[in-house]
Amino acid sequence: MVTILYNYKVLNNDIKQLNINTKDNSYTITIGKNLLKNVDKYFSLDRKILIVTDDNIPLNYINDVKDKIKNCHIITIPNGEENKNITNYQNIISELIKNNFTRKDAIIAIGGGVIGDMSAFAASTYMRGIDFYNIPTTLLSQVDSSIGGKTAIDFLSIKNIIGTFYQPKGVLIDIDTLQSLPKRQLYNGLVESIKMAATFDKEFFNFIKDSNDIFEEIETVIYKSLLIKKYVVEQDEKEQSIRKVLNFGHTIGHAIEESLNLKYFHGECVGVGMLFFSSDEVKSKIKETLTKYNLPTHLDYDKNKVIELIKHDKKSQSETISIIYVNEIGTYEIRQMTLSEIGNLL
Ligand SMILES: NC(=O)c1ccc[n+]([C@@H]2O[C@H](COP(=O)([O-])OP(=O)(O)OC[C@H]3O[C@@H](n4cnc5c(N)ncnc54)[C@H](O)[C@@H]3O)[C@@H](O)[C@H]2O)c1
Repeated sequence: MVTILYNYKVLNNDIKQLNINTKDNSYTITIGKNLLKNVDKYFSLDRKILIVTDDNIPLNYINDVKDKIKNCHIITIPNGEENKNITNYQNIISELIKNNFTRKDAIIAIGGGVIGDMSAFAASTYMRGIDFYNIPTTLLSQVDSSIGGKTAIDFLSIKNIIGTFYQPKGVLIDIDTLQSLPKRQLYNGLVESIKMAATFDKEFFNFIKDSNDIFEEIETVIYKSLLIKKYVVEQDEKEQSIRKVLNFGHTIGHAIEESLNLKYFHGECVGVGMLFFSSDEVKSKIKETLTKYNLPTHLDYDKNKVIELIKHDKKSQSETISIIYVNEIGTYEIRQMTLSEIGNLL
């Protein structure tokens, strides 16, 4: 069991800030309401800025940010994972070149994990790196992909196969943006918080499991999740050790997601994936929590397809696969399993 220190800076009653310190950079994540209209307080905007967003993001979010920038360019990508690709990466880079962006200029992502990952990858590679700011607008991107510096695009149908580790200069989490997010997407993002709580923090797990109105308490969910991820990525930025724990539920979950041709959301599959690597007691608590939030506890998949996909997964190059097992809520074990042992679980 680890102790996560719940210390953060409170700017006023509504705004909280967390500093993330990695080897190369440190940056601040600001969490609160009505932040978009005050973006200039948090990001350095007196330069050329490219906003990268997708066609599902409400225009008023983009306009609030745009209004604070003198020299602003915008690129809108079609929404969806299938657009996190090399063509749209090239489109972003072309936009930067066309508008003579220099090393002093910056990119702001406004959107979910797809836009965040792809823009951060573009920022990390354009002229060997320009500043990147993130305004995540899905719960998943707020609790998970906005922190930790992983950037990526998909290629040849392989998710996140091209990417870098590159830290943002700043992150703004305006919880008001969740009001336009479909409920299914909210619950999808909540799975990543359930995962972090199940492995690191029993009290937080019970908070989610027993909440009477999770959306009233979403700010707490966001910063508690970020505190756990901060604790992890500050120790292990490049996923050499403890960061692997964040893959709880992902080995099988990700393979199920791909085998069902992305019909189910990532979080929905990871939720089911966690159940395979939990003790009976933990399984029943996670099941209870998933059910409460309209998340599946079982999916119909083709076992052979799932095994095949796990075999090809980048984490399974050797004979055995490292998996995260939870015997008691708030703790984890790293276990080695063979493919046939995993096959038996399925
Ligand atoms: N970098 C990391 O550490 C990390 C971690 C986890 C996941 N990811 C990546 O994140 C991606 C998934 O992110 P996601 O779940 O945010 O998906 P997403 O970016 O595809 O967003 C989901 C949908 O919600 C829409 N949307 C976003 N914000 C909205 C809002 N406020 N109101 C209405 N609609 C809105 C989007 O247009 C999209 O249609 C995957 O590509 C995954 O690989 C990265």
